[in-house]
Amino acid sequence: MVNKTHLVAAFCLSTYAFFFVIEAAEDINEDIKLSEEYKKSRKSSQTNLELKDIVFVIQSQSNSFHKKIAKEVEQNILKQASELGKKHPTVLFIHEMDKHEGAWTILPLMQHFSATYGRNSSWIFFCEEETNIRILKLLETLKRFDKSKEWFLGKALYDEESTIIHHYAFAENPKIFKYPDLTAGWALSIPLVNKLASKLKNEPLKSDFTIDLKHEIALHIWEKGNGHQLTAVPEFCTDDATSVKAAHCATTFNTFLPLCGSPVKKENIFVAVKTCKRFHKERVPIVKLTWEKQAALLEYYSDYTDSTIPTVDLGIPNVKRGHCGKTFAILERFLNVSKTSWLVIVDDDTLIRMVFSREAVQKLLHSKCRCYRNDAPDDMVLGMCFSGLGVSVTHSPLFHQARPMDYPKDYLAHQVPISFHKHWNLDPVKVYFTWLAPGEDSQKGELHQHIKEDL
Ligand SMILES: *[C@@H]1O[C@H](CO)[C@@H](O)[C@H](O)[C@H]1NC(C)=O
Ligand SMILES: *[C@@H]1O[C@H](CO)[C@@H](O)[C@H](O)[C@H]1NC(C)=O
Repeated sequence: MVNKTHLVAAFCLSTYAFFFVIEAAEDINEDIKLSEEYKKSRKSSQTNLELKDIVFVIQSQSNSFHKKIAKEVEQNILKQASELGKKHPTVLFIHEMDKHEGAWTILPLMQHFSATYGRNSSWIFFCEEETNIRILKLLETLKRFDKSKEWFLGKALYDEESTIIHHYAFAENPKIFKYPDLTAGWALSIPLVNKLASKLKNEPLKSDFTIDLKHEIALHIWEKGNGHQLTAVPEFCTDDATSVKAAHCATTFNTFLPLCGSPVKKENIFVAVKTCKRFHKERVPIVKLTWEKQAALLEYYSDYTDSTIPTVDLGIPNVKRGHCGKTFAILERFLNVSKTSWLVIVDDDTLIRMVFSREAVQKLLHSKCRCYRNDAPDDMVLGMCFSGLGVSVTHSPLFHQARPMDYPKDYLAHQVPISFHKHWNLDPVKVYFTWLAPGEDSQKGELHQHIKEDL
């Protein structure tokens, strides 16, 4: 069985309901205040640090496309090391560490890191595929921190409002809790790795369920106030490498947009919208007003036939939760009525959700794996079925399970988002045209940038 936790967790991102009243977003442009520790670190004299004392860990994924990008990150690190005339550091790929159940959630690797590098290294530095590292600057940055102490370094994000994706943590004052933007890279000093490892040995992780990794790692290290808060380091950046703002940065950011050849034609994508009678008047009109016209082939699936939309009744009674029965009926219908290579399934309040290749759907329906009940959670069942079939989930940070206001502005600022979810307490048409509507293609990136700066 490969990496089941990964699959299950990745698929669980979309089934949340909102019940709480959230205040209107405030305009926050205040810079993250530099922590006292950070200021102290600037004053202290530099410590000895060799590049080979840093272990680089790349948050890689196992499919060929992502593997290739991660390999390029490694090559880039080693090339810079050679150019600087330095001994090569260790570079690890998360997707190759999957004998540790749930390796992608990082914490399960602490004991391994401690046992293997706990005596001969100084830092573990984590980064993503999109992280650009300036090795010399990184080395200079880390040198300012006393490596014999416990450190948790990164670019700080914080919630402007309490949000369901963080279980409404710090509801009284969500801004006080800082967590790292993983794209900027983040670092743990070895003494902290050793401490986390020995704690995890005595108290193994209880949850095998991850919703927002960066927040959960920070919560774990914070230990309800007994551990460490993130130390914000301004050299960990998500600015574009070419921008003037990035001059001081040890890390910069490469676009999330995949460079994988010409885009799939919309005639080759079948879009299934899940709805039910209750939402024919409330939600379907919003889909029609926003992204429907971008789809060449689209069907609405409901528990009721309405020729004005039109909807297709799949003969599966609507249930409040789960939707497994309905989703499997959609998979079957997709193979029956379409010839396209791709299937996209969305909710009527999703502004995209799950994307399947035709081959994956065929493989699934030829297997015996099915919903154990019609109202079983479809995302978890799909995760478990595909995992059993050896089809791995590919994660994209551009699909969002919640609304734009549920994410830090600083985090969304370096994204071109693909989707958001839930129409609760917002104007979905406005969200669509602000964040998701395609502009004139050539200007798209620029347009988004303007809007985001205006917000
Ligand atoms: C530290 O030890 C591990 C395990 O023996 C080894 O794989 C790694 O390369 C060593 N690192 C350094 C910097 O010597
Ligand atoms: C798909 O086609 C098969 C065989 O004709 C039929 O039994 C099944 O009901 C169809 N399923 C859907 C959801 O249309």
